[in-house]
Amino acid sequence: MLLCTVRDCREPLVREERRLVCARGHSFDVARSGYVNLLQPQDRRSRQPGDSKEAVAARRRLHDAGVTAPLLRAIAERTQLSSADAVLDAGCGDGFYLGNLTAESGCSAYGVDISTAAIDAAARRYSSVAWIVANADRFLPFPDGTFSRVITITARMNPAEFRRVLAREGRLLVAVPAPDDLLELRGVGRDRVPRTVADFAPYFTLAGQSRASTTADLDADQVRDLLLSIYRPSQERVPTAMSVTFSLDLLQFQPAL
Ligand SMILES: C[S@@+](CC[C@H](N)C(=O)[O-])C[C@H]1O[C@@H](n2cnc3c(N)ncnc32)[C@H](O)[C@@H]1O
Ligand SMILES: [Zn+2]
Repeated sequence: MLLCTVRDCREPLVREERRLVCARGHSFDVARSGYVNLLQPQDRRSRQPGDSKEAVAARRRLHDAGVTAPLLRAIAERTQLSSADAVLDAGCGDGFYLGNLTAESGCSAYGVDISTAAIDAAARRYSSVAWIVANADRFLPFPDGTFSRVITITARMNPAEFRRVLAREGRLLVAVPAPDDLLELRGVGRDRVPRTVADFAPYFTLAGQSRASTTADLDADQVRDLLLSIYRPSQERVPTAMSVTFSLDLLQFQPAL
């Protein structure tokens, strides 16, 4: 079930033909591709927030080339989803991870992203997931305890809201770039795990930690896609074929209270 995002309304939204309506009469159109835009003007910082259409298309080409398949496998192993699960992906992008996890497990799923281009791309490809444009750093438009799993893959961190929408027995999976992620492009990065665990500590305790890594031989076009979508260097960089490491630290959390 979705909740109304107009100011503090939070009434349940009921589906009518091509729109969702709350008891106070606030209404949201269902897009042609099937997603719903619940983003309110005060919840966006720019006219087109989040990833651009070009960045979404570039990321999708990399996912489609199989570059991130080993990361998907690791995430599927850690989440162990079944058809009984209800999953939220906060900052789902083009829907690659959630779309595949849903197809494999038969779980019910909601993907939230602030980018209309990302959600439109996700909705066009993965029709069994409910795709929502919303700001995952603010109010998540779901009742308390809706989900058995929340996942966030190099995306949003909203500990209080993740806890609220998770059931007491629910689990949270947070994937952050590991220090060796994109090593060949940016050198060794910082270890984000301690800070992430500290940020989630008021609501969650760490129940497991692992690293998923893969190295891919990318041609120049794929390196260009990488520069467009995942790694945006401050100086212009000419893409050339190279081998690139993709590496995630996977943190599994359980509710602290
Ligand atoms: C690095 S991408 C990761 C996308 C996807 N999880 C993946 O791994 O393919 C981060 C995503 O977060 C989205 N995003 C940025 N700010 C957001 C916000 N406040 N609420 C929801 N999504 C947001 C971007 O549009 C983008 O799709
Ligand atoms: Zn309303």
